[in-house]
Amino acid sequence: MKRIMITGALGQIGTELVLKCREIYGTENVLATDIREPEADSPIKEGPFEILDVTDIERMKEIVSEFKPDAMMHMAALLSATAEKNPQLAWNINMGGLVNALETAREYDLQFFTPSSIGAFGPTTPKKDTPALTIQRPTSMYGVNKVSGELLCEYYHTKFGVDTRSVRFPGLISYVKEPGGGTTDYAVEIYFEAVRKGEYTSFIDKGTYMDMMFMDDAIDAIIKLMEAPEDELKHRCAFNLSGMSFEPEEIAASIQKHIPDFKLSYDVDPVRQGIADSWPDAIDTSCSRDEWGFAPKYDLDKMTEAMLNGVREKEAAAQK
Ligand code: SER
Repeated sequence: MKRIMITGALGQIGTELVLKCREIYGTENVLATDIREPEADSPIKEGPFEILDVTDIERMKEIVSEFKPDAMMHMAALLSATAEKNPQLAWNINMGGLVNALETAREYDLQFFTPSSIGAFGPTTPKKDTPALTIQRPTSMYGVNKVSGELLCEYYHTKFGVDTRSVRFPGLISYVKEPGGGTTDYAVEIYFEAVRKGEYTSFIDKGTYMDMMFMDDAIDAIIKLMEAPEDELKHRCAFNLSGMSFEPEEIAASIQKHIPDFKLSYDVDPVRQGIADSWPDAIDTSCSRDEWGFAPKYDLDKMTEAMLNGVREKEAAAQK
């Protein structure tokens, strides 16, 4: 990769991905796009930026023909809980945006990345050590979008020779940009509330295991996969990724090592709990490790330390 265009650049992953790519490939070589303008103080404004609605393929192609990237990272999408509230809109954005991005990549010969998710699995998928290739019968609209997206990316590779690559992300945890509308968001909110209030009410129930990963590991994984030699990739668009698996009591216990009085209570949201129950407890990441050297650095306690420090710094800066 030399010149990269990123859609959904102001989202949870995009925000950090743009900055890391600019650090590696040079500010001028990474074009950030999103449906809205960055905030006045956003570091994204320090490099190239264009407004782009991913359902507008003409505008997408126009931007590509002007910027001339060699890779596209298509991040624009609605997360699981938002998608479940408005499934038709989710289909239009998640699938309409993806097919436009793939068509653009085909026409302009771009290397292509888009994230899939643990949401691509369903209640009949093996819950533990979930293999990369297994039963996928998701029951949420987000899951239907993700499994269709994986297949569409594979199709664009076999049919048109586009160099498509994808990973199934678990819940991603970061203090830089809070997520919006995801089932795994509780594991981000808990750190913010631990610092702000010393307590948190979880919408996900005790005993619910889900895969998670610290954002730094997620960003490194995208770049590593995109730089991996193509002939070493057998699971092109179906790489499982995870840094850890935990349930709410375990993340609370990790926080209590730093904030001993931290209290966790529950007010379960049936929609998000239903989605979480349909996902695996812990997936097997061996093909990512074997084929392109995926090696996450953060476990739960290391992530807790980074999150609490990051949130504290952010809160202090906000009060100045
Ligand atoms: N974090 C995502 C969600 O909960 C999972 O891909 O929607």
